[in-house]
Amino acid sequence: MILGKRITIIGGSGGMGKVFGKFFKDHGFEVTFYARNEDKLKQAVIELNVHYELSLEKSVENADMVMISIPINSTPDMIRKVGPFLKKNALIFDVTSLKYAVFNALTEIKNKFPVNCISLHPMFGPGISDMKNYVMMVLKVGGTDQYELVINELLELFRSVGLIITETLPEIHDKRVALTLGVPHMFNILFLNLLKSTKEPLNELTRFTGTTFLLQKVFAESIIQREMEMFGEIQMENQEFLKILELFESLLHKYKKIIEEKNIIGFNELFSQGLDYSKEDNHFHNSYNYFYEFMKILKKESEN
Ligand SMILES: NC(=O)c1ccc[n+]([C@@H]2O[C@H](COP(=O)([O-])OP(=O)(O)OC[C@H]3O[C@@H](n4cnc5c(N)ncnc54)[C@H](OP(=O)(O)O)[C@@H]3O)[C@@H](O)[C@H]2O)c1
Repeated sequence: MILGKRITIIGGSGGMGKVFGKFFKDHGFEVTFYARNEDKLKQAVIELNVHYELSLEKSVENADMVMISIPINSTPDMIRKVGPFLKKNALIFDVTSLKYAVFNALTEIKNKFPVNCISLHPMFGPGISDMKNYVMMVLKVGGTDQYELVINELLELFRSVGLIITETLPEIHDKRVALTLGVPHMFNILFLNLLKSTKEPLNELTRFTGTTFLLQKVFAESIIQREMEMFGEIQMENQEFLKILELFESLLHKYKKIIEEKNIIGFNELFSQGLDYSKEDNHFHNSYNYFYEFMKILKKESEN
């Protein structure tokens, strides 16, 4: 085994830090957490039976692997800060939800120091209990002559629990997550705010619901309970997201005009274009069935 056994997680006391802390501990690694708030750190360390270190330099200097799991905004600076302290051939990786700035910072340190760098984006949140069939986006940055051996061992470890590894590049990643994370988050935040602005209480609206509203509401309510700060960063720190917002603005403008003018041809055109686009999707034929499966679960719950 070329991948050493000591891993330090910067941001170990956070949601994702703990998920990966447990993962590496369960796979026989010696795990050390670093974060700023000692009380939170102690609590996490007791929970997972791992170590902690309050000095950033000490926490990483003997580590074979360093994982950075702190807010998106602070990650590039943290990478540059720890770069000089890493030992030769150490593997450093982040798990941020945006890749452009982080990829540049990792490239910078791999050009300056004899270390190995990879950037990961787990497509799941801290609530996960089993990683099987979840996706982990991977961006290879590069490093020493041991690079391929080291990262292959890490990726094999992830594959061994059923994670699906998908390799990508920073620009593609950020454009696609603007659509797959930013857009659904935005629609659901706007959905709840649109309802609120009508001053109709949600409980009252629920009494008037058909299936579509109920499912949409459950989806929105689950999103609105998540990490506000990170959801903001995912939209505001991604330059690609602004371009999507501009597209959305012009589409909304067009939609309003169609409705105002009772333009049934324009409406049918938009509807059909959406239909044609979704027909290219592998899930298309099963989507209606999935919808009713979800509804069955919701109905069961409301009967209890
Ligand atoms: N949550 C998700 O669903 C999800 C999914 C995929 C990827 N990610 C990525 O995972 C990363 C962590 O997210 P999270 O949800 O685990 O966040 P979190 O729960 O808020 O945890 C953040 C951790 O970072 C530490 N921290 C914050 N600022 C720091 C700084 N400047 N220097 C050192 N430590 C700092 C915090 O502890 P102290 O404040 O005590 O230092 C805490 O341990 C983010 O980059 C996010 O994009 C999250």
